[in-house]
Amino acid sequence: MTLGEWIPAATERLTQAGVTSSRLEAQLLAAHVLLVDRTYVLTHPEVELNELAAEGLLQRRESQEPLAYILGHREFFGRRFRVTPSVLIPRQETELLIETALELMVPVKRVLDIGTGSGCIATTLKLERPDWDVWAVDISGAALQVARENAETLGAEITFRHSDLFSGLAGERFDLIVSNPPYIGVEEELPVEVRSFEPGTALFAENRGLRIYELISEVYRDYLTPGGSMVLEIGQTQGEAVAGLFGGEVLKDLSGNDRVVVGRV
Ligand SMILES: C[S@@+](CC[C@H](N)C(=O)[O-])C[C@H]1O[C@@H](n2cnc3c(N)ncnc32)[C@H](O)[C@@H]1O
Repeated sequence: MTLGEWIPAATERLTQAGVTSSRLEAQLLAAHVLLVDRTYVLTHPEVELNELAAEGLLQRRESQEPLAYILGHREFFGRRFRVTPSVLIPRQETELLIETALELMVPVKRVLDIGTGSGCIATTLKLERPDWDVWAVDISGAALQVARENAETLGAEITFRHSDLFSGLAGERFDLIVSNPPYIGVEEELPVEVRSFEPGTALFAENRGLRIYELISEVYRDYLTPGGSMVLEIGQTQGEAVAGLFGGEVLKDLSGNDRVVVGRV
């Protein structure tokens, strides 16, 4: 089958499966099979596709597996991060946390990223501010492995620690602590694409998603230097609760939803 035949057929099947950007995703799947970019797919309708390989990927997407896990990567802040089912797929909303951290009007030398997952936050901060000493922790060893790989591939030198929040950081102090912790309430409704495929430890927290913020708020002062800052991603209904825990300010994302809390000590 040629690309010109396969793309419309695959687009139709993905639409039937409820995939919103079905044409784009069909093109990206075909590009992945051919090891080419999307422009090539768009400009070479006559090229033959390995139908068996393409069918396998198409069926995975039809069963709601996220495209990023099928392709094995996702763009974040203009860079490509490898993702596996052990890590949360980096979200565009998290770029607000990055922008906020980069624009803080305070001197920063040491930074800690709690719950680094793919390493997208820590790696981006290090590459944007090479003079920062960036540390990153995660409770998941499998996630840390992916984060280490991403940091190495992208040329970011980061200190990684396997740690339950601050447990592996005794005696360390940071000028800035950032985190996009799990913040979804266990009972919240989620698309199958998220609930059935992304790691539960990256998504869910007790107490309507607030538990990790509460745990961090109990001890973070012991790990911040005087005048240090916290920048936390939050769920859109959590602004008041999390700002209350950290005495911070709530920032909105491009969609107008509460998305980040900034706190200072
Ligand atoms: C929402 S994901 C964020 C991943 C990545 N920072 C991002 O923004 O895409 C939360 C991460 O926190 C980690 N995590 C959950 N509980 C933790 C804990 N108690 N201590 C350290 N990391 C934890 C999870 O393994 C997951 O990688």
